[in-house]
Amino acid sequence: ERIPQVEALLEKMTLEEKIGQLNLLTPGGGIATGSVVSEDVEAKIKAGNVGGVFGVSSPERVRQAQELAVKNSRLGIPLLIGSDVIHGYKTTFPIPLGLSSSWDMELIKETAKVAAKEATADGINWNFSPMVDISRDPRWGRVAEGAGEDAYLGSQIARAMVQGYQQDDLTEPHTMMATVKHLALYGAPEGGRDYNRVDMSRTKMFNEYLPPYKAAVDAGVGSVMTSFNDIDGVPATGNKWLLTDLLRERWGFDGFVVSDYTSVNEMIAHGMGDLQDVSAMALKAGLDMDMVGEGFLTTLKKSVEEGRVSEEEITTAARRILEAKHKLGLLDDPYKYSDASRPEKDILTEENRQLARRAATQSFVFLKDHNNILPVSKRAKIALIGPLANDQSNMLGTWAPTGDFKLSVPVLEGFKNVAPNAQITYAKGANITNDSVFAKKVNVFGPKVEISDRSPDELLQEALRVAKASDVVIAVVGEASEMSGEAASRTNIQIPESQKRLIRELVATGKPVALVLMSGRPLDISEEMELPVSILQAWHPGVEAGNAIADVVFGDVNPSGKLTMSWPRNVGQIPVYYGSRITGRPAPTEEFQKFKTNYLDVPNSPLLPFGHGLSYTTFQYSKIKAHSETLRPGDSLMISTTVTNTGERAGQEVVQLYIHDKVRSLTPPKKQLIAFEKIVLQPGESKTVKFSVTVEDLKFYNGQLEYVAEPGEFEFFVGGTSDCEMQGSFTLLE
Ligand code: IFM
Repeated sequence: ERIPQVEALLEKMTLEEKIGQLNLLTPGGGIATGSVVSEDVEAKIKAGNVGGVFGVSSPERVRQAQELAVKNSRLGIPLLIGSDVIHGYKTTFPIPLGLSSSWDMELIKETAKVAAKEATADGINWNFSPMVDISRDPRWGRVAEGAGEDAYLGSQIARAMVQGYQQDDLTEPHTMMATVKHLALYGAPEGGRDYNRVDMSRTKMFNEYLPPYKAAVDAGVGSVMTSFNDIDGVPATGNKWLLTDLLRERWGFDGFVVSDYTSVNEMIAHGMGDLQDVSAMALKAGLDMDMVGEGFLTTLKKSVEEGRVSEEEITTAARRILEAKHKLGLLDDPYKYSDASRPEKDILTEENRQLARRAATQSFVFLKDHNNILPVSKRAKIALIGPLANDQSNMLGTWAPTGDFKLSVPVLEGFKNVAPNAQITYAKGANITNDSVFAKKVNVFGPKVEISDRSPDELLQEALRVAKASDVVIAVVGEASEMSGEAASRTNIQIPESQKRLIRELVATGKPVALVLMSGRPLDISEEMELPVSILQAWHPGVEAGNAIADVVFGDVNPSGKLTMSWPRNVGQIPVYYGSRITGRPAPTEEFQKFKTNYLDVPNSPLLPFGHGLSYTTFQYSKIKAHSETLRPGDSLMISTTVTNTGERAGQEVVQLYIHDKVRSLTPPKKQLIAFEKIVLQPGESKTVKFSVTVEDLKFYNGQLEYVAEPGEFEFFVGGTSDCEMQGSFTLLE
């Protein structure tokens, strides 16, 4: 359906002005994630050569930018003002992989809503989030920005985030347009190396990687960002099958598509031709907006003149950009996000910080319990040790460009806030790494990894003295924030050796030791899992880091997060994920068996499975049953279980339902998550959780890419981890 206001504008526009709308620039300001930086941005805006900018914020600066366009360009078309608001704006929430571990869709939606409120108060109207790339490869640093390995959970999270940002009403000044990214398959680069090529079968794509992007589209996401990788040998940014056949025709997407940072130009390196070739190819494939590279701006007119692209194709792309501006209400009120009174009211409010604190506590995953070391008494004599124990630079986590690390609460400060009567002594104990070459690579965005002037031995001895004089040791260790994230792939995903040594030595003191582990990815903690320690995974918790960690360490909040990515036993196991497809030679047990699919040196199972996460209390599952033996298409089948809190503290449990399709036309996954519910239980309390299964939950994309459910037997599994037992089966009837 055409929008008269947009059509009227298009009528008046010259070819150059239409091409101008397709151009997205950034004046820089520390957010350049490629080697190219935009130049002469102001002059280009005035000339009508720019459709949007990113990296500009504050009501005043945004007003100035809009004025350049509105008052100076011939048609006065306002700009899209973009930003990477990935896990909160100024109120930084946990990294997305952490947030996903909450399995709490309302909470995730709320964080996105607050992020939108803060960002729009600062002039932003268009967000480059959610990042929904499924990944089963923890070597890839950007797993930190996603929701893990599972298409079903990833789809729920994609929807929650789009709804949180956009709130079903983009004309409302507290909402911003979302961008689902990176279409597509960006999370599956070969070798886990960022920007590397991707190769995957269509059935795997459709069943395991594409659903979250589609979920975002179904939720009404306003824009889509392409990925850097190729798909079937064609870069995503110029891939007609992806951007037109799939996205527009099959999924019915009606928003606009933006490239990633210079990803049009990068098609030259991909071997697709020169700048004019790749720009024409991208436009024809269905790309509407070119981020930073200016291939569209500098070559499309020539391509029209030479008959390589039509003016109509350019008009179509320009229409989509103008329609987005219309959806946001910008065409009527270009200054609607420039209310100077808003930042103070809306940004970093106490309420928002409280949400960040709660979100962080919900993201933590209690990986391992040893002798109830956690929680710790608020009157204990505590040795708080580790390079991340009194650190402010690494608490926000990767890709929080709108946050301010100086606002974050270090763990030591949080401990003092929450347990003022505890005796807390801090010692650094070790550097994050002693490898200065590695540290330099991590420190591109600022000093996240500092190597102390004191020798490693001196640091260690001091920590051991402190540990020996304490009742309990809390060691805050792990990755610096920029050891994960974009362009931060690792082949060794262990805790750095400097810290592993510290952990070993702390354990050797004989004192009870709990590790608070920070990372942006699953780590290989095989060695630490064997030690007599408790382990709390805290990811990079955001602006309220220290307070949230203290809430959980001292037991004010009972941890309830569950892993959304499997943690491998070693890098050689990657990819290891719960939903892998059945083979012809499965290994029936964890024991090695010749001529079965298994390794000589480690079992097939991961170190820690998807869905795993302990609590300070215990839960018992009983009465697990399907209420019928058959399911007729059109009906529903109830599967229920009673969960009882058998411990002494209130706690939350994520009850998970998996199925296994026994016989189907494509090899089925071993298990597939189809539902979950997070419940709260008081000590001794029982609740019955009921899942209603319909034929929709049993569907998959078959060899012809039709979305079907095939009649036959389905096994089901219920529990608090993907590693739960089969409970029975039911039959889907014709
Ligand atoms: O949004 C990001 C994207 O995720 C990676 N490249 C740069 C973009 C804009 O900053």
